[in-house]
Amino acid sequence: MKFISWILYVPLQLIALPICIFGMLLISYRQMLVSKRLGVSQTAIEVFNARWTLHIFGMRKDPGAAKLGSVLPNTSTLGLWLALFPLWCKAKIAGEAEIYPRRVNPGFETVMDLFTARTFYFDHIITRHIPLVRQFVMLGAGMDTRPYGTLNINNLNVFEIDLATTQRLKIESLSKAKLATDHVTFVPMDFARDALFERLGAGRYDRHQKTLFLWEGVTLYLPEATIHQTLVKVFNQSVAGSALVADFYSDRLVTKMKSRLGHKLLQYTQEAAQFSLNFDEAWEQKLRAFVQSTGFTLGETYFMGNQSPHGPFMVVAELVA
Ligand SMILES: C[S@@+](CC[C@H](N)C(=O)[O-])C[C@H]1O[C@@H](n2cnc3c(N)ncnc32)[C@H](O)[C@@H]1O
Repeated sequence: MKFISWILYVPLQLIALPICIFGMLLISYRQMLVSKRLGVSQTAIEVFNARWTLHIFGMRKDPGAAKLGSVLPNTSTLGLWLALFPLWCKAKIAGEAEIYPRRVNPGFETVMDLFTARTFYFDHIITRHIPLVRQFVMLGAGMDTRPYGTLNINNLNVFEIDLATTQRLKIESLSKAKLATDHVTFVPMDFARDALFERLGAGRYDRHQKTLFLWEGVTLYLPEATIHQTLVKVFNQSVAGSALVADFYSDRLVTKMKSRLGHKLLQYTQEAAQFSLNFDEAWEQKLRAFVQSTGFTLGETYFMGNQSPHGPFMVVAELVA
């Protein structure tokens, strides 16, 4: 069926090209211009779109994303469908998605797989911790819908932290999408300015409970001092058995991002890339040294793209308290 899927896909993609381009323009308009107008994160939408896509392609269940996508003002599910329809048809005929999104062996990821592969690695580490913890703290939660699907489970208290405007939009959109939020405490704050545990302490957060912290797709946009201080605070305030899972990006990727149009696009919503680590060589030792300097111990890691001659472009890492 893979062969037939290619034979049908190539002409379909060519015929549908103007429609796909129109879809992409619609997505970009909503993501960039509408996000800017609303004063909310556009990078959160980029990640959201990738997770919505995984759901639609049947590669990862995310019913919350399906519902939220239809009400978020700064994405376009119509645009996504128009852009992805030929790929979706190909995936359905072949029985698996091969181009985008796709499953890729660890180490062989390219930048095109960044959001999708990253999501699977985060899911893997989260799934291992969730039965062992009572609290799940999402640092820079964006439009992540994990708490409104797979993680809407008994006895798990969820805390969503994000900048106030982005969080306000999410709360409004969750309500429009009729997604239950009783198990979630929303904490608006800025990592660079506010005291994380003071903010958390004002809610249902219990510092004596084992907790999983998720910091997905955020360190890239923060200054090094903020990242280091936040990690040290989380380590100092966490009981043994707690963990934090985060991603860190390579100097090489961030330098490339800074020299391209991408940087201008990110600056447009004040989300320029900042923090990175040198993964040119001995990447595991470098990451371990950074993690240990915060008090944490390095656990499971996924160095994405590590089979490339240039080394990995990012890592998803488990930090154990
Ligand atoms: C790329 S998005 C990732 C969102 C989410 N973690 C996900 O995986 O879908 C980055 C998120 O970090 C948030 N963020 C960026 N800087 C922040 C800061 N200084 N304080 C709090 N949140 C911040 C943004 O508002 C945005 O929601």
